[in-house]
Amino acid sequence: MQTEHLAEEAAASALVIFGASGDLTRRKLFPALYNLALSKALPSGFAAIGVARRPKSDASFAGEMKEGVERYSRSGPIDEAAWSRLAEGVAYVAGTFESPETYAALQARLSAFDASHGTSGSRVYYLAVAPQDVLGMVRALSDAGLLPRATREPGRPFARVVVEKPFGEDKASAQALSQQLYRYIDESQLYRIDHYLGKETIQNLIVLRFGNAIFEPLWNRNHVSHVEITVAEDIGIEGRGKFYERVGITRDIVQNHLLQLLTIVAMEPPVALDADAIRDEKVKVLRSIRPLSGEAVSANVVRGQYKKGQLGGEKVPGYREEPDVARDSTTDTFVAMRLFLDSWRWAGVPFFVRAGKRLSRRVAEVAVHFRAPPLSLFRGPSFAQRAPNALVIRVQPDESIELRFDTKVPGAGMAMEEAAMAFRYQTTFGGSSPEAYERLILDALRGDATLFTRADEVEAQWGFIDPILQAWRRKSAPLSFYESGTMGPVEADQLVATAGFTWRRP
Ligand code: BG6
Repeated sequence: MQTEHLAEEAAASALVIFGASGDLTRRKLFPALYNLALSKALPSGFAAIGVARRPKSDASFAGEMKEGVERYSRSGPIDEAAWSRLAEGVAYVAGTFESPETYAALQARLSAFDASHGTSGSRVYYLAVAPQDVLGMVRALSDAGLLPRATREPGRPFARVVVEKPFGEDKASAQALSQQLYRYIDESQLYRIDHYLGKETIQNLIVLRFGNAIFEPLWNRNHVSHVEITVAEDIGIEGRGKFYERVGITRDIVQNHLLQLLTIVAMEPPVALDADAIRDEKVKVLRSIRPLSGEAVSANVVRGQYKKGQLGGEKVPGYREEPDVARDSTTDTFVAMRLFLDSWRWAGVPFFVRAGKRLSRRVAEVAVHFRAPPLSLFRGPSFAQRAPNALVIRVQPDESIELRFDTKVPGAGMAMEEAAMAFRYQTTFGGSSPEAYERLILDALRGDATLFTRADEVEAQWGFIDPILQAWRRKSAPLSFYESGTMGPVEADQLVATAGFTWRRP
């Protein structure tokens, strides 16, 4: 497995998870650590220490994490030997994030693990905490001597900080947060996570585009008519009313996951496959997005909110009926946009992107639609309305890549039907693909920041999103409603229809 190869470079270290009693730790981080342990991808000297307020013993923390693994791990019934290997290095430190005693207790546990597990003084701090706690925590770690600044001396212990999204709440606050963090750490120590970048299919986009000769010549305005990117979820806000009222789907998914996906679809070939070369190209894409502000927001962006409806045969409430949500809330749970990239490659090619909660199904995909043939030899009613060729990259579920084209229906006459050449991960590779967090945790341990977002990327993402949010605040753009269990408001269909297209039915 690829992860085993990567593990050769992951140095002995301790992973410290702040906010360890939260859902993310149980649902994602520990299942990821367990799967890394299972494939023997963790470094030989390794420990995982949870830090949170509630008092509990190492054993009860490990027990809770084991339940999380049993429930959420992709790899079936737990392998006791692999779990024990991981559990040997699991510990828990109780304490508030503000109190110096918490850091003293953490220091003691870390030193003990250095001696007993050979974690060698290197640390990765994973801050699974509210954005407003990040700065205080980094300052406290630094004051306690637990977070030394990066050094170029080879072989010295390292200290890195992984920060969950959202990073800031607009461009100014993201910029300010980075600047404040630089008082204690360098950019090279800061790993801003966007878990979409850890998804196999999204990484494979880089291989698909730059590891093959057949796609790249077509990947531009001469051959592509338009591109669709969909991140659809059937779940609602899952009890996160307070969070969603503050954030909305634009900050929760569009500003990060969706724009990151766009950058990888649209970027130029990097000069090398290293973190900075790739991120340089991604930033260029973000800077090339034609800004939308004022009137252009209403013309190019549809903001929606779900009403009650039916999903999987069950009645589900509307957004305004969810707990902790204002009865007259205008928070967005769906966004569709028409974007243009003012770049040589993409001039004039519309990108239609959408993200939504409580849609008819969970699906994330990219569809690159190619231009129609220059001249149609096939005339007559049966040839009207043919969909042009498309390359469809299914990010999840059922990860696949399909090339869709027309083919002749066997028999007399000349009838056509759409056919697909399909590559399915499951059929080709079997098993389940590693979860995004497996790859990202391993990369943080290895010190590879390629799949993490750099300061200028985050700022460019906010730079595009801020004026849209401002237009909404000025109430100059309408809010559309959609029934839960549909694919969003009709206005989103109209947005695409004005350009002569329809959304692909995923
Ligand atoms: C998170 C968002 O970042 O991504 C959630 O906060 C969303 O609202 C989730 O549900 C989607 O992730 P995935 O991997 O299930 O597509």
